[in-house]
Amino acid sequence: MNTRNKKFDQNNDSAQADNRPKLSPASLIAKKRDGQVLSKNEIQLFIDQYLQGEIADYQMSAMLMAIYLQGMDKKETAALTNTMLYSGRVLELKDAHVIDKHSTGGVGDKTSFIVAPLARACGVKVPMIAGRGLGHTGGTVDKIEAVPQFNSGLSLDEFENNLYTHGLVLMGQTEEIAPADKRMYALRDVTATVESIPLITASIMSKKLAEGARGFVFDIKAGRGAFMKDLKSARLLMKSLTETGARFKRDVLASITDMSIPLGRAIGNSLEIIECIEVLKGRGPEDLKQVSLHLAGGMVYLAGLAKTHSDGIKQVTKALHRGEGLSWFQKMITWQNGPDNLVDHYEILPIAPVKTPILAHKKGFFHKIAPIELGLFLVELGGGRKRKEDKIDHSVGIVLTKHWDEQIEKGEPIAYIYHHPHQTNQVQDFIKNSYDDIFKISSSRSPKRKLILETSIKRSFKHV
Ligand code: URA
Repeated sequence: MNTRNKKFDQNNDSAQADNRPKLSPASLIAKKRDGQVLSKNEIQLFIDQYLQGEIADYQMSAMLMAIYLQGMDKKETAALTNTMLYSGRVLELKDAHVIDKHSTGGVGDKTSFIVAPLARACGVKVPMIAGRGLGHTGGTVDKIEAVPQFNSGLSLDEFENNLYTHGLVLMGQTEEIAPADKRMYALRDVTATVESIPLITASIMSKKLAEGARGFVFDIKAGRGAFMKDLKSARLLMKSLTETGARFKRDVLASITDMSIPLGRAIGNSLEIIECIEVLKGRGPEDLKQVSLHLAGGMVYLAGLAKTHSDGIKQVTKALHRGEGLSWFQKMITWQNGPDNLVDHYEILPIAPVKTPILAHKKGFFHKIAPIELGLFLVELGGGRKRKEDKIDHSVGIVLTKHWDEQIEKGEPIAYIYHHPHQTNQVQDFIKNSYDDIFKISSSRSPKRKLILETSIKRSFKHV
């Protein structure tokens, strides 16, 4: 047995030595393709060989598609999580106030930049190892890299050092932390294999468990713009993340939040950073603020710094009003080599020079703002990736000038697209051809949005 799996095997059913002849990569793919259950050893063998270069990207892609189509049971999901977790270094838990937050991804989903500094302001230590854009959704690391010179590529030693000296750190995955996820994530992004509960669970949990946190707040997005399109599948993902957390003796607070329309008004890397700074200044869109306070309050509660979740929310709300979140955000940027005056100088961020309005075809209220179409158009403009080696253009994006529940007059701008001069025709064609697919405006007031759909809390923390 590979020694990297020792911890898992001690914590779970004892591993049975698998003396059967090893199957070839193609046979393992076929086994999953045909709906059979893979053993722990088979999963580990496949991932190990992939990391050693003995299994090619195309074979891993086929396996990911087989998992996507056939699913995995609880044991397979736990084995996949464990193998991915121990594909890299796993940090020790050194402080019971270390809590992280992770979202399953959505359009305009940028809460991390608000949640992390607010939780820090209330005493939580926040180790954020975040992901890149996936499909039509943006990624936290891609967004923060809009900030010139910001170093998201810290070594694990630097990461730990920042975590324990400053209590707030944000970085992308390195080869040191869950390298299996880093490589599989990039493949899933371009092979239409993202929306799979076992793959999402293993991807998220392998990175998060490696950080040495006592617990996690999960923001499970549900709706048109999320990977989980309906409440039923969001609940299944919530259950899968919570059970995996419990299996690894970690506390989990999971909330299902609305992603039927974009969160906030900005979509696009630089624009989203500006929107978060606005929220931290006490302005910015209400939906983004409410979801962020809910999640940050959950972190304070899981860290044992508030008696209840609602007490945690009260604490972070006060921190927001006192400007403490803003100050922690700026400090984090400075510690990680970014400009020390970002929060007062938005012009530091790259913003595309042309701003083309989308004009309302009629008077009324929004009944639909389709997030996926907007997210995919951002990718078309270069704000996301089509191939894993693509470079991101942080300057492009979309800002909704009108949002849910706001009165719209015919002919007034409902959004602006920020782009480069050579993209003008592409933008105009998009507006002409996609307007009706994206926006629906009706004369009646739109139904009220419920932002937080469900929350579950499971305490399993045990220092092992
Ligand atoms: N976020 C992740 O880190 N992984 C996924 O698979 C989906 C969202």
